[in-house]
Amino acid sequence: MINDLWYKNAVIYCVSVSTYLDTNGDGIGDFQGLMRRLDYLQGLGVTALWLMPFQPSPGRDDGYDVADYYGVDPRYGTLGDFVEFTHGCKQRGMRVLIDLVVNHTSDQHPWFQAARSNPNSKYRDWYVWSKKKPKNAEKGIVFPGVQRSTWDKDAVAGEYYFHRFYEFQPDLNTANPEVQAEILKIMGFWLQLGVSGFRMDAVPFVIASKGADVGEKPVEQYDMLREFSQFLTWREGEAIILAEANVLPGTDMKYFGEAGERLQMMFNFDVNQHLFYALASADAGPLVEAMKDTKPRPATAQWGQFLRNHDELDLGRLEEKQRQAVFAAFGPQPEMQLYGRGIRRRLAPMLGGDRRRLELAYSLMLTLPGTPVIRYGDEIGMGDDLRLPERNCARTPMQWSTEPNAGFTKSEHPILPVIDHGPYGFEHVNAADQRRDPNSLLNWMERMIRMRKEVPEIGWGDFRFVSTGTKTVLAMEYEWRNNAVLCLHNLEGAPREIRLTLKHDGEGCVLVNLLSGDHSEPNKKGRHTILMEAYGYRWFRVCGLDYLLKRDEV
Ligand code: GLC
Ligand code: CA
Repeated sequence: MINDLWYKNAVIYCVSVSTYLDTNGDGIGDFQGLMRRLDYLQGLGVTALWLMPFQPSPGRDDGYDVADYYGVDPRYGTLGDFVEFTHGCKQRGMRVLIDLVVNHTSDQHPWFQAARSNPNSKYRDWYVWSKKKPKNAEKGIVFPGVQRSTWDKDAVAGEYYFHRFYEFQPDLNTANPEVQAEILKIMGFWLQLGVSGFRMDAVPFVIASKGADVGEKPVEQYDMLREFSQFLTWREGEAIILAEANVLPGTDMKYFGEAGERLQMMFNFDVNQHLFYALASADAGPLVEAMKDTKPRPATAQWGQFLRNHDELDLGRLEEKQRQAVFAAFGPQPEMQLYGRGIRRRLAPMLGGDRRRLELAYSLMLTLPGTPVIRYGDEIGMGDDLRLPERNCARTPMQWSTEPNAGFTKSEHPILPVIDHGPYGFEHVNAADQRRDPNSLLNWMERMIRMRKEVPEIGWGDFRFVSTGTKTVLAMEYEWRNNAVLCLHNLEGAPREIRLTLKHDGEGCVLVNLLSGDHSEPNKKGRHTILMEAYGYRWFRVCGLDYLLKRDEV
């Protein structure tokens, strides 16, 4: 296959305009600020930005309650600023993905306002109504403990409306052809303004059948995904959809399509949860199973691999015992947990700020089959503020420097409080200090990202697991176009010596360390003995024995 599929070897960085950099002193991040940081992002090596919702919104769910799909919230800037931004990214060789939130609108959206106030309006059928309270009203709640039902009575309409998420997010009736056409129109609009695709929010719910008569198991209309994808390709050949779809591994092919005719990318929630279990228990077994279960196919399909995102770390797919192990290791206090299924902390505090464990986690994530997605602030090891409600604790402003409010804003009232106390306060954790320190997490991350891009085997290739004789050391070998790379990760906080033989080992092979000078040569039987330090990791290029000869010549 030709190399045109840019997302196969990309590094994606997720950023929220509102908490990145404020330039006009109103306490709210803006596009001008984000533009000032494009060189920082290019320097870090990311090749694509995923922008969280920035459209006009009452902001009751961090912008995931959109009130106008064709605009920029005036607090962040204008459409003109947006085009300057995508242009600035293009100049630096970075692509832009934006959030596409079309499962629901804000209840303030003019469509819902028209729908609720006039039963004869064409918008009435853009939403999902019922005269009586449906039997399933307490079923399928997404935010247990916060959300009480999925159907509420609208006082103006005098009828019940369906909302999969919060009550101020009425679901769009996505089965209505007019709604489907509008979704395409929204995509077309932003493509025209320079984006390369969409992180599509809540995809299983977008394509699910909705209504009072839907039983416990809604039926997915997968064909809708093919229509979205076809439209994108007609309008802009390189555009993709990256789906948020936390579904069972057996279902993922329905989203990709057997021949790749549906979506290009999906977040790998299954691997994500088992990865945290592996970090908590030092047992690679279940993670290996999750990777086997979600082996990427067809050739155009790609997983988005991540550690933390802007939501809680959802552990809903783990077995009860596994879930309890992750809670105990990374979020033992009730205030660290959320919705009875997840952990709401940032990565660094979860790992006790231990640099070895942070490197292990990132090295592992960067070498999982797929494309890495990094959350802003994680590159400097930012922390969380558990005093903030729900998921806001991990959405605090980016910590740029030791200036007041971390250099995020000159206002005394930032949109969310800047972390200014404890070990993760901006005086200890900020980009300016880390930029000057060659050993900082930021500079380490930059080097790792550079190396990741130079190892396209991971993004493009096929993988297999190599036996290390212990469940605590994970060994994966990637192959692509006759090149191979071996990645080792010691999940345990103790050193371990491992022995392994690679399949090319008929005559033996040399393992060339990509991150430091200690290469590994095989013994006479073609076997390698490698000492892994506590939480150690290795990236090796697998070379034939003639590598030694060549090296001796130089
Ligand atoms: C997705 C988003 C989440 C949001 C929800 C409703 O799950 O990731 O942040 O609250 O959709 O739009
Ligand atoms: Ca501002």
